[in-house]
Amino acid sequence: MSEVHQLIHQKTFGHSELVQLLKVKGEERQLLFSRSAEIKLKEVGRQVYFRGLVEFSNVCSKDCYYCGIRKSNGAVSRYNLNDEEILHAAKLCYENNFGSMVLQSGEVSSPAFVDRIERLLKAIKLQTNNELGITLSLGEQSEETYQRWFEAGAHRYLLRIETSDHSLYRKLHPADHDFDARLACLKSLQKIGYQTGTGVMIGLPFQTVEHLANDLLFMQQMNIDMVGMGPYIEHAETPLYQYRDSLWNLDERFDLTLKMIAILRIMMRNINIAATTALQAIDPMGREKAIRIGANIIMPNITPGRYRNDYALYQNKPCVDEDPEDCMGCLDARIALADSDIGYGQWGDSPHFKRRNTAKQ
Ligand code: 5AD
Ligand code: FES
Repeated sequence: MSEVHQLIHQKTFGHSELVQLLKVKGEERQLLFSRSAEIKLKEVGRQVYFRGLVEFSNVCSKDCYYCGIRKSNGAVSRYNLNDEEILHAAKLCYENNFGSMVLQSGEVSSPAFVDRIERLLKAIKLQTNNELGITLSLGEQSEETYQRWFEAGAHRYLLRIETSDHSLYRKLHPADHDFDARLACLKSLQKIGYQTGTGVMIGLPFQTVEHLANDLLFMQQMNIDMVGMGPYIEHAETPLYQYRDSLWNLDERFDLTLKMIAILRIMMRNINIAATTALQAIDPMGREKAIRIGANIIMPNITPGRYRNDYALYQNKPCVDEDPEDCMGCLDARIALADSDIGYGQWGDSPHFKRRNTAKQ
């Protein structure tokens, strides 16, 4: 086995080397984090980009065993922002110079929903002089739907694979949730020309460090442009809650998430990596810590305050009592604490995507 101080200077890793890196402690852990921080600065710089996140509806047709807004959770009060509220949120992003917004909701694929998103995309583009970048995070859809939304103005799409392991995927989802169908969606998105993002949860029931090492290899093999990874956080109204006593503790899940980010930054140097909200749910300074060691994207929640409590994918979700306006000042201060600058008014596309596209021409 190589020494960690040698390993961190590699660009590619075998499975056992990744497992070794995921297990580092003490001084070796610090070495890993300084290396990933150094690579981040060199490849993507000090700038952190904002994507204003609008969780516009928690109506969902899926039933993932880990998720608080799964369709079988009757305790959730379902909401759906109206068009005016969504357009207002887009305006807020634009006026605050966020550069981009993310439209996220539970998974729905009715023709009415598909039409509505298409209409909204066009309206947002019009309202923001074509300047606001739009990312979608609306789950699995047909290739035709992805194409229509792309043509209407969306240019990035986030679809987490959740875990790259088929058999673990099966344990976390009902039988009709199909890993291969999800993978096919990611491939369609790439084919259409979206900047494509994926990600996994860390610390799931039955998950091992070996699975996580494979997740990292999966993201590299898929040549993904953006990644959002966060710790799994149990939710009392979900089937997986019964396994809560067998999980890594929250600190371990947090630590492993930071290591996943750091290692991925070393492997895929110029991609966009998000400092996810679930990190902040465990540690109030979680996102700032992630930024220091490799992340370069933050998705401030700009969902109107009164709905935030109802988009509880997991418990202890931060900032549910805040209003969008309160998040703005708070974020400025937080980014400064992480020794970074905010890329105001820019789309902040990953250099990885730009290069991948130039290579195609
Ligand atoms: N803990 C952490 N993340 C979760 N997600 C869903 N449920 C949980 C949970 N209990 C994540 C999934 C999904 C994203 C929108 O939220 O990765 O893709
Ligand atoms: Fe929401 Fe700070 S990020 S209040």
